[in-house]
Amino acid sequence: MKVAVIHEAPVPTSASRQLMMAFMKRAVKALYLRFSGLVSYISSGTDWISVGSDTKLEDLDATVVRGLGSVATLEILLRRINLLKQLESRGTLVVNPVESIMKARDKHLSMIELRRAELLVPETAVVEDVFDAVEIAKKWGRVVIKPLIGSMGYGSILASDPDMVYNVGRLLQMHGLPIYVQKYVRKYERDIRVFVVGDRVLGAMYRYCPEGTWKTNVSQGARTEVAKLTKELEEVALRAARALNLLYTGVDIGETEEGYVLYEVNATPQWEGFMRTTGINPAEHIADLVINLAKK
Ligand SMILES: Nc1ncnc2c1ncn2[C@@H]1O[C@H](COP(=O)(O)OP(=O)(O)OP(=O)(O)O)[C@@H](O)[C@H]1O
Ligand SMILES: [Mg+2]
Repeated sequence: MKVAVIHEAPVPTSASRQLMMAFMKRAVKALYLRFSGLVSYISSGTDWISVGSDTKLEDLDATVVRGLGSVATLEILLRRINLLKQLESRGTLVVNPVESIMKARDKHLSMIELRRAELLVPETAVVEDVFDAVEIAKKWGRVVIKPLIGSMGYGSILASDPDMVYNVGRLLQMHGLPIYVQKYVRKYERDIRVFVVGDRVLGAMYRYCPEGTWKTNVSQGARTEVAKLTKELEEVALRAARALNLLYTGVDIGETEEGYVLYEVNATPQWEGFMRTTGINPAEHIADLVINLAKK
């Protein structure tokens, strides 16, 4: 069996290295590929992928996508997605599935799918007109404005002042970007990150915002603590994973008066913080899952 870990980082991240090690431990050949170094060839009768212009890539049994990289244009995003689709169409198991990566990356579409699966999400509006954003913020009180395609919490702001919403909204509008407005809802200054692989919940941790901030991203200094898994929490995380058809995921869950709400369902979650906190290495479980699915 031969698998690849795909990402864009010039040096594989620790998650990518852990995955490759987990595969190798199971006697599976594992290689690391960068999107920008791959060539998609199409000619009459066939298509193939190569590393650089002339090292043809042997057909892979599976590939684990660790992120699409920071894509500056829609065209590059499409090219990377299409490359993964090409792999899928050539019989490679792509984890997570391409469609699911796209859904999870797009916060607007994620919210629609989660709601459709009858899961609780914060009140959300996606608008183009800044005056709509201001009116919504006045109605909802405290709101979060997030980039539609974000990363690690950067670019999200919390606002209770409509003029702040106006200024941020104006800026986004001037850059041709939609405005994603979400009601700020939570009981505690923390959220819960639940890690799911296949049909199994590996564990959960609380992420506490650093003093004076509202963000709970580990990459922004959140303090973590093991969280007790309850039946309800497990069920919410598994249903969220299923709603977006993710084979492995990190689910961000908030505790509110109404119950658990979903902030985000990540298709390429990082797990350093989770591993440090719980002692569980998701790479081992992902490798087992991928090998089992690729055998079928
Ligand atoms: N509507 C909200 N109300 C209260 N807290 C929120 C809300 N939205 C987000 N948060 C907090 O901010 C954190 C980060 O938000 P979110 O997970 O949506 O984006 P992100 O992690 O920055 O995005 P990405 O994973 O794309 O980098 C959440 O885990 C949650 O703790
Ligand atoms: Mg998040």
